[in-house]
Order: sequence, then C-alpha cells, then structure tokens
Amino acid sequence: MARIYPILSALLLAACQLPGAGGDSARSGAMLYARHCAQCHGTGLRGDGPLASELPVRPTDLTRLSAGNGGVFPTEDVITVIHGYPGRHQLGLMPEFVRDLPPEQTVWTSPDGTSHEVPAAMLALARHIALWQR
Ligand code: HEC
Repeated sequence: MARIYPILSALLLAACQLPGAGGDSARSGAMLYARHCAQCHGTGLRGDGPLASELPVRPTDLTRLSAGNGGVFPTEDVITVIHGYPGRHQLGLMPEFVRDLPPEQTVWTSPDGTSHEVPAAMLALARHIALWQR
C-alpha cells in the first residue's frame, strides 16, 4: 500500500492541473492537500512526506489529531494552524497558508453551535484530514 501513495498523489496533482479544474473542485480538500501539504505531512498524512527528513521537527502525524484530543476532531485548531497561527513548537516550520489558499469564506458551525466565517479551502482541508483519523 505504501508504494501506491506517491502514484495516487501524482495522479491527483495532475487532475488538479487540468484546465477547467478551477472553482469548487480546485478547493476540494484532497486536491488542496496533495498540492500544499503532502510534501511534508505525506500522502498518507502520517508526517512522512519527502521533505520531512529535512526538517528539525517532524511534521505532525495528522491521522492522530482526534486521538490526541479525546476522540474529537479539532476542526477549529486545524483551521487555525493552516491559517498561520504558530504551531506547537513555534519554530515557524509549519507554513502559513492565509495568502496561498483561495480567500472565499463559508460558514462553519462549531460543536458548541456558534457559527463562524472561515475560508472554504481551510474547512475543506480540515474535513479531508478528519476522514483520515485512526
Ligand atoms: C514545509 C513543511 C510543511 C508543509 C508544506 C505543511 N506542514 Fe503542517 N506542519 C509541519 C510541521 C513541521 C509541523 C509541526 C510544527 C509544530 O508543531 O510546531 C506541522 C504541523 C501541522 C499541524 C498541527 C498539528 C497539531 O499539532 O495540532 C497541522 C494541523 C498541519 N500541520 C496541517 C497542515 C496542512 C493542512 C498543510 C497544507 C495546507 C500543511 N500542514 C503543510 C510542516 C509542514
């Protein structure tokens, strides 16, 4: 299985670059992940992308975020980190994406029932990561 990830990732990237892949589909979480995140966090989200070994701190294993948060996926924290607020180690290793992702906003309702305006791309990324929790 491990060997198929790079192939899947390459196919996904190719699909993202097809003409007409703009708009909503370009915002799809899987495509955004392949384009912006996989090089560090790995196509399987376990923190083992090709750049990981070059970094002084290992990129977080994104499949364990719920496990590390009492079984609840921390959507808000994930959006915050992608946006560009400092990560745990505060070394600036996790890039800021506030300027690189499409700015369109959407409304997200947090578990406590309050509504927030969040960038649609960041919510799509968080939902993609949520699907990979183990
Ligand atoms: C240049 C490498 C790199 C890229 C690209 C990258 N990250 Fe990270 N990411 C890191 C590193 C390293 C950490 C750990 C930093 C820390 O804890 O201070 C991290 C931490 C995180 C965390 C924090 C997890 C926690 O501890 O709560 C999340 C969420 C995350 N990344 C998501 C993403 C997403 C989504 C993308 C793509 C939009 C992305 N990252 C792109 C290197 C990267």
